[in-house]
Amino acid sequence: MYLNKDIVKEGNQILRNISARVSVPLTTADLNCLKGLYEYVVISSMDDLVKQYGIRPGVGIAAPQVGVNKRMFAMNAVDFLDEKQPRYLFAILNPVITYKSKEMTYLPGGEGCLSVDRPTDNLVTPRHYAITAKCSIYDFKSNKIKNVTLKLEGYPAIVFQHEYDHLDGILYTDKIFKSEELDQNIFPLFEESEE
Ligand code: NI
Repeated sequence: MYLNKDIVKEGNQILRNISARVSVPLTTADLNCLKGLYEYVVISSMDDLVKQYGIRPGVGIAAPQVGVNKRMFAMNAVDFLDEKQPRYLFAILNPVITYKSKEMTYLPGGEGCLSVDRPTDNLVTPRHYAITAKCSIYDFKSNKIKNVTLKLEGYPAIVFQHEYDHLDGILYTDKIFKSEELDQNIFPLFEESEE
């Protein structure tokens, strides 16, 4: 189980390295890392456990963020624009994005990252609206690895792209813009309501 103290912060070279493919079957160390990432995003979605462990909740966390330059991450995203969809909860190994839509979007409030502590309010990150990725998924119930093709769009696709970038040493802060500076064909994922 990773805690706040284990998270590598912006400025550390580990976040800038290109991570290496993970060998399958997994070594004990790699499996423990992946399990820790998975637990982190599961616990993040449970308010009482977030309090208990004192963690900063996140919908995604990649291995470099805990000091491991391997191509794996965990995500736990709800598609809040389509609540009939199940949770996008995955422990992912060696992802390869095979399709990116021309259509781009962004989260209107901007993104956040466990490795970035400074505020980047009102700065947004353009992402492909839809992606297809080939990856291996670790199933912690059966302890088996499955090779899958994930087709994602909207919020889960944004989360996936953010985590995927971590594997290539890229932080969302490398591509933040004022929304009015973006190409006018790029629309927000949803309209932000005025409070
Ligand atoms: Ni991040």
